[in-house]
Amino acid sequence: MIRLAVFGKPVKQSLSPRIHGLFAGQCGLEVDYRAIEADPEDFPRLVAELAEKGGRGCNITAPLKRAAWQLATHCSENATRAEAANTLIFVGAGDWHADNTDGAGLVRDLRSSAGCQLEGARVCLFGAGGAAAGVLGALLQEQPTAVIVANRTQERAEELRKRHADLGPVVTCTPQGLDTLEPFDLVINATSLGHAGGASAIMPQWLRPGGMCYDLNYGKAAEPLQQWCLQQAIPYSDGLGMLVGQAALSFRLWTGSEPDTAPVLEQIRREENLR
Ligand code: ATR
Repeated sequence: MIRLAVFGKPVKQSLSPRIHGLFAGQCGLEVDYRAIEADPEDFPRLVAELAEKGGRGCNITAPLKRAAWQLATHCSENATRAEAANTLIFVGAGDWHADNTDGAGLVRDLRSSAGCQLEGARVCLFGAGGAAAGVLGALLQEQPTAVIVANRTQERAEELRKRHADLGPVVTCTPQGLDTLEPFDLVINATSLGHAGGASAIMPQWLRPGGMCYDLNYGKAAEPLQQWCLQQAIPYSDGLGMLVGQAALSFRLWTGSEPDTAPVLEQIRREENLR
């Protein structure tokens, strides 16, 4: 039995136990994957308990990703750049390796589900919080012409730029500043605006004709942008494929097995009624 878990708060609604259950079935593995709610002060103890019980690792979701990165004894380049981990791998007693598969999960989904070519593309990353930090490195590795990080608070965008500038061309601006720039092939919503049920803050003129919007959110938080794109006839994808993509990469880190994401994504969409 492979013991795994996802830590976060809230975490009850997490789709990860279901996704990893489907991966396990595909790969013929027995997996016990739990969702464990944790406050930041309890998180290190709860991770240690899982490891002591023979756990192989865990996923980490908001608001614990930065804490997970700080807990690790060794960090992948992706986790170091993001200063956050969504995956811990228990390699020995007290020896926990951190990785961040969010960005690679996004790139994988952009390529496979959304048919989006990143090489040579002009990309706007809208937002500069934890979600944006998790994906910027992976986006730059695909060699877009430029990634413009647009954020209400300039200092956060600047901080992200400095941490990633050696990977490729990153420029920062305010959301208003985007109006004066050449339009984009891809605008990625990495803000938390949808969680408050707010309308989209993305402007149609930011996109070139045929350009697409990708929302890192899914479910309720993705509805405002999805509706807006539908009204504007802008190609759109929610972040459910990224969720399944990052999960598959974590699963491979723990088990060495490579699940097939397409049927799992299809099944989760059906089960959650997310079209
Ligand atoms: P997450 O981990 O989901 O990224 P976060 O780190 O709190 O959460 O980041 C939230 C992002 O949404 C930030 O880019 C934030 O902009 P600021 O850095 O300026 O706060 C953005 N955001 C949240 N509410 C916003 C709003 N009303 N208008 C514009 N941007 C907003």
